[in-house]
Amino acid sequence: MTRTWFITGTSSGFGRSLTEQLLDRGDRVAATARRPQVLDDLAARHGRRLWRADLDVTDTTALRGVVDRAFADLGRIDVVVSNAGYGLFGAAEELTDEQIDHQLATNLTASIQLARAATPHLRRQGGGRFVQVASVGGQIAFPAMSLYHATKWGIEGFWESAAAELAPFGIDVVIVEPGMARTNFAAGGSVFGAPLPEYADGPSGRLRRVASGELPPLPAPGDPVKIAAAIIAAADRPEVPLRLTLGSDAHALATDALRDRLRALEAGRDLAHSTDADDVIPVGG
Ligand SMILES: NC(=O)c1ccc[n+]([C@@H]2O[C@H](COP(=O)([O-])OP(=O)(O)OC[C@H]3O[C@@H](n4cnc5c(N)ncnc54)[C@H](OP(=O)(O)O)[C@@H]3O)[C@@H](O)[C@H]2O)c1
Repeated sequence: MTRTWFITGTSSGFGRSLTEQLLDRGDRVAATARRPQVLDDLAARHGRRLWRADLDVTDTTALRGVVDRAFADLGRIDVVVSNAGYGLFGAAEELTDEQIDHQLATNLTASIQLARAATPHLRRQGGGRFVQVASVGGQIAFPAMSLYHATKWGIEGFWESAAAELAPFGIDVVIVEPGMARTNFAAGGSVFGAPLPEYADGPSGRLRRVASGELPPLPAPGDPVKIAAAIIAAADRPEVPLRLTLGSDAHALATDALRDRLRALEAGRDLAHSTDADDVIPVGG
């Protein structure tokens, strides 16, 4: 059955691969990008099945307008994919206020506003599905990526709550958590703070030396084509899991981190219980 998708950030990486694979199998795609002309080749191949719009996701007014126009032009959109994003790297102290605001606006606020803009349309059409391209970086954290992690942990919390709000309307949510993958993300798509000498020998300095080619690149096991295919396969299922962890690195990192947190939580049980008021029967036994 032919389906219609709305995707942000389709110029490269996961967004481009999703768009290509969906068009190749006969679906319709509303593809948004800051430079929609980068999709000219796909427009020439697929004609009216590719709907395009110029969209910088940090412009909330434009985002609402593009979403409204896409639903008006296409009639029904089955899957809305929030994918646009980038990495801001460097120690928190090295980042400027503007860099922080822009990272939050792109990776966090824009995804929230896309959800808010599309929800009334999905409700009116009787349901639909949101796919949020998040990251295993929303389950774990590395140094020198604190703001990136803040956005990815933030969007996990947003969707876990919103998914429960939306379920009664037949709208469900998949949070995709890839590990490191071979897109532009690491190869030029990321932004660095201004280096402070105090951090030169730590993780921030090392990450800069990786970016400059002075140190070897970080392992990136994820194949964006396979990741896009896995997202499509998940989105095709009648029922979807809330989280889709993709990549052997993502799976191992999330497993270790969650086990560690569970161990720490169990170790803190008596202390947690000790702060209840005296007349309380402990929650959870
Ligand atoms: N690759 C990884 O290792 C990895 C791992 C986990 C999660 N992710 C997530 O995957 C998503 C896609 O990244 P990718 O790996 O496919 O990297 P990518 O190849 O760099 O693609 C990022 C896309 O986001 C777009 N974008 C960035 N800022 C935008 C803005 N303000 N408005 C509109 N579009 C914007 C870029 O457009 P331009 O061409 O205009 O810059 C590009 O199309 C991101 O949310 C990223 O956090 C990536």
